[in-house]
Amino acid sequence: MGELINKQRVAESFSKAAPTYDSEAALQRDIGHQLLLKLSDDLKVIKPSSILDLGCGTGYFTSQLHSIYPESHLVGLDIASGMLAHARSHRHLGCEVSWVCGDAESLPLKSQSSSVVFSSLAIQWCENSQALFSEISRVLQPGGVACLATLGPKTLFELREAWSTVDDYRHVNQFQSMINLIDALPSDLDIVKSESEMRILHYSHLKELTRELKGIGAHNMNVGQAKGLTGPARVKAFRKAYELFRDPQGCLPASYEVFYLILRKR
Ligand SMILES: C[S@@+](CC[C@H](N)C(=O)[O-])C[C@H]1O[C@@H](n2cnc3c(N)ncnc32)[C@H](O)[C@@H]1O
Repeated sequence: MGELINKQRVAESFSKAAPTYDSEAALQRDIGHQLLLKLSDDLKVIKPSSILDLGCGTGYFTSQLHSIYPESHLVGLDIASGMLAHARSHRHLGCEVSWVCGDAESLPLKSQSSSVVFSSLAIQWCENSQALFSEISRVLQPGGVACLATLGPKTLFELREAWSTVDDYRHVNQFQSMINLIDALPSDLDIVKSESEMRILHYSHLKELTRELKGIGAHNMNVGQAKGLTGPARVKAFRKAYELFRDPQGCLPASYEVFYLILRKR
């Protein structure tokens, strides 16, 4: 795959969104809690010595992990320095937690340093899945588990289809299919569970959705997006196309395809 996602733009956009993220990220919160249950209830992981929260954002789930596993050493890692600054100043978790700036595709961590890798809605911003999974495998201890939640290609298809009636630019991030993710796994990572679900959010007005995407920093980060301002006529045409999705209850839907992937290192 060529360079599609601009990592600098990812880091800048999430850094900028750090102060608003927690109040706008209701869906992200719900999904992260589901992932936590998979780790503690389904997998029955009891006392991991060290946990990596990969793409920790504001550190909300790092803090949740700390409450469930107070004796574990935790690393909250993110590519966005603004997110980490927010996490450091809002989550006072003591010396058991290290905040590290880094890229999931090239982790600045020692091999076999984590017994658990937890990652909620972060790895969809990685386009080189082979590099990502090979790094997850490298930092996991033998027998260690990775609990991952990510987004699939049907995510925000309404937004993508509405824009496609207006121009040929890539306005919506293109996420990878489960098959592509599974194909990228190295031979020492076994699949314990792979699940997917569609979540549909509803809005009265389109601007509520676009404001929310901005508030969580999840703008389009693909290279080749439309440059400059979107002209009023194009925005009007886009809105009109999105209105075709309005449901009988009068709401505008926004779909999220969520993948859960639980892996175990041999
Ligand atoms: C939607 S937020 C989720 C944050 C947190 N996991 C949560 O659920 O609250 C995605 C996070 O992934 C981070 N991220 C994106 N690409 C990354 C990469 N290549 N390496 C590390 N972090 C990355 C972003 O900076 C952002 O903080």
